Amino acid sequence: MNSNEKTIEKFDKHVMHSYGRYPLAMKQGQGRRCTDESGKAYIDLGSGIGTNSLGYCDEKWADAVCAQVRTLQHNSNYYYTEIQAEFAERLCETTGYTDLFFGNSGAEANECAIKLARKYSFDKYGKGRHNIITLVNSFHGRTMATLSATGQDVFHNYFFPFLEGFINVTANDIEDLKSKLDDTVCAVMMEYVQGEGGVVALDKEFVDAVFDLCAEKDILVIADEVQTGVGRTGKFLAGEWYGRKADITTLAKGIAGGIPMGVCLSGEKCSKTFTPGTHGSTFGGNPIACAGGLAVLDRVTSEGFLDEVLKKADYIKSKLEKCSEVVSVTGKGLMIGIELKEKKASDVAAKALENGLLVLTAKTKVRLLPPLTVSYDELDEGMEILTGILEE
Ligand SMILES: Cc1ncc(COP(=O)(O)O)c(C=O)c1O
Repeated sequence: MNSNEKTIEKFDKHVMHSYGRYPLAMKQGQGRRCTDESGKAYIDLGSGIGTNSLGYCDEKWADAVCAQVRTLQHNSNYYYTEIQAEFAERLCETTGYTDLFFGNSGAEANECAIKLARKYSFDKYGKGRHNIITLVNSFHGRTMATLSATGQDVFHNYFFPFLEGFINVTANDIEDLKSKLDDTVCAVMMEYVQGEGGVVALDKEFVDAVFDLCAEKDILVIADEVQTGVGRTGKFLAGEWYGRKADITTLAKGIAGGIPMGVCLSGEKCSKTFTPGTHGSTFGGNPIACAGGLAVLDRVTSEGFLDEVLKKADYIKSKLEKCSEVVSVTGKGLMIGIELKEKKASDVAAKALENGLLVLTAKTKVRLLPPLTVSYDELDEGMEILTGILEE
């Protein structure tokens, strides 16, 4: 039994089997490359599903995180910490929001957004205006509320009863939206680019309709930017592509460079909605995560960084579009979906792994979420492996 297999056997004996895992035991990473237990090297174009935004163990990020570990690793949210204050200020300055709540994951950030929208409406209009519209093919997380919000039937099994109060609208169908936007609705929640749903960007007309119709009725717009946020699409927030700013925006994944963190941002409308005791999280805003988050913000907001993200995205797209097996390339920036003619995305991902390349899938597409710091050399190497597999 090799060292990969030994780890896998030990792991599988105790860890619940809730994932369809690949037979790979990861040992170490540096930059955009990692190695497994047997020493085999991989180029990573999935970045831990968009979490390692600066790649593996970026030096400045690691220094900031390690310094924080040695200073103050955690404290109760009943006290204040300077690093939380600093990160909150920087994130609000960067996004233009005024208020935020810290959690530890995308699902928690969305839970917070759901609670915030419902309480905003309850405080202002009383009971009965609690419904939240979400889109067909959306993905908002795995907790009971965020699973209930997720607009995919495949997730609505086993765990009955799901939470009431979520109504699905077909993405880009303005008439469907209009017909469901009644006075029981307090919010519309959407991803500008549906990630798990197949890397599909919403139409500008639909997004405009959501914002305009919601504004007429004081219905809040919640942008789930857990996957699209923090520079992933080439703008800090994907909403910037649409010229829109949601009342509430949620972030997670890449925000702290690979340390768990989720953030729910809001504007002044909801700034007084939560009062002491109405929401909380023991680990939310953990100082180590905040230190990682500051290092990510420093880099992602540095001069020219996001322009490079866009250039790299175009570079990848141009390579893929030359490939005969590729029907279309979807998404925005470094959030890339590859629609295939005949090959199965899961087979391509498995073959890529064999050949030293990590890629993801989303529905029937191959999905790439490279670290935002990926270099052209690494892209050349990775794309050569991928296009080789596609054209086999
Ligand atoms: C758009 C979106 N929202 C929420 C989530 C849930 O995030 P987490 O797994 O950190 O709870 C995800 C995860 O893939 C996501 O893509």
